[in-house]
Amino acid sequence: MTADYLTLNRTGDKMPIRGFGCWKIDTKDAEETIYQAIKTGYRLFDGACDYGNEVEVGRGIRKAIDEGLVKREDLFIVTKLWNTFHSKNHVRAAFDRQLKDSGLEYFDLYLIHFPVPLHYVSPADNYPPGWYVGDAKSIAFERSPIHECWAELEKLVDAKLTRNIGIANFNCQAILDLLTYARIKPAVLQIELHPYLPQERLVKWVREQDIHITAYSSFGPTSYVDLTDSGKSYTSLLEHADVKSVAEKHSVSAGQVLLRWALDREFAVIPKSVHSGRMESNLDIMNIKFDAEDNKTLDSLKTNQRFNDPMTYGFNLPLFD
Ligand SMILES: NC(=O)c1ccc[n+]([C@@H]2O[C@H](COP(=O)([O-])OP(=O)(O)OC[C@H]3O[C@@H](n4cnc5c(N)ncnc54)[C@H](OP(=O)(O)O)[C@@H]3O)[C@@H](O)[C@H]2O)c1
Repeated sequence: MTADYLTLNRTGDKMPIRGFGCWKIDTKDAEETIYQAIKTGYRLFDGACDYGNEVEVGRGIRKAIDEGLVKREDLFIVTKLWNTFHSKNHVRAAFDRQLKDSGLEYFDLYLIHFPVPLHYVSPADNYPPGWYVGDAKSIAFERSPIHECWAELEKLVDAKLTRNIGIANFNCQAILDLLTYARIKPAVLQIELHPYLPQERLVKWVREQDIHITAYSSFGPTSYVDLTDSGKSYTSLLEHADVKSVAEKHSVSAGQVLLRWALDREFAVIPKSVHSGRMESNLDIMNIKFDAEDNKTLDSLKTNQRFNDPMTYGFNLPLFD
């Protein structure tokens, strides 16, 4: 039986293993979607400055709390620092804006979204700023070391503004470096993980550092179909014959198979859906049990194809090499 949470290092906080992703939820739908997700049973929400909907996500949370569906302490709210705010001069203001937008007094987990310091963009000029400064056609790096950025995140923990801190899209080298100076170790690494891209070696090593893992894009290319060539051209995992055959065998959906695949590896999952039926089925994954044949079938899907790769967005940034 899988536990329904992961116990984080240092705080011992119980992070729900089944969460809800907030990327690509339109601002006009976000309040209601989050409120419905809480009603459906989700307790972890994964947001980001970059998703441009923190105000509306916060309203959905507030509505559920005000109606007595949940208390703040029942929820586990995750969000992320955007790349343009890495400088030690900008982390605190960026964080304060996110906390205010969310209408919360603290976050449960605050992640560095990418180990990519980009040139500062004033929120007065463009918020959320995205990857490019103004009309530029290439990204502009900033000479802002991650150790200074991380020290600012540690101060947020000291100030009790976020209970835990962590990282997303860091590779082994970036984590190895961070561990040489971190006063507070990352609690979580959030990375792309699905049967095409199981990243077993990174996962094993990260676990040995007592860092838990959240898997994003559990359905593989689905969210990238309208963004990148690889997202468009790759066979959807939700439509893959092998995934569908395992799903049929267990009388569940392909989506449930892919989420259970992650749970079996003790990854937290954060699927996003604006549809109530999918919201429910994406949560209903605790009792699925694969046998050796199923695991062999799913293991055979590995191609190491990554979909959230800056290179495929057209930036010359081989971040994961
Ligand atoms: N740290 C990072 O850099 C990073 C990067 C990417 C994502 N993330 C996080 O991870 C979350 C999830 O990843 P993702 O955005 O790639 O999305 P995902 O959850 O893998 O896929 C979402 C897509 O799948 C559809 N869908 C959801 N459940 C389904 C089901 N049961 N059957 C068929 N289709 C289904 C959704 O459509 P409908 O909404 O129409 O149902 C949506 O188009 C994000 O929301 C975000 O919080 C983090």
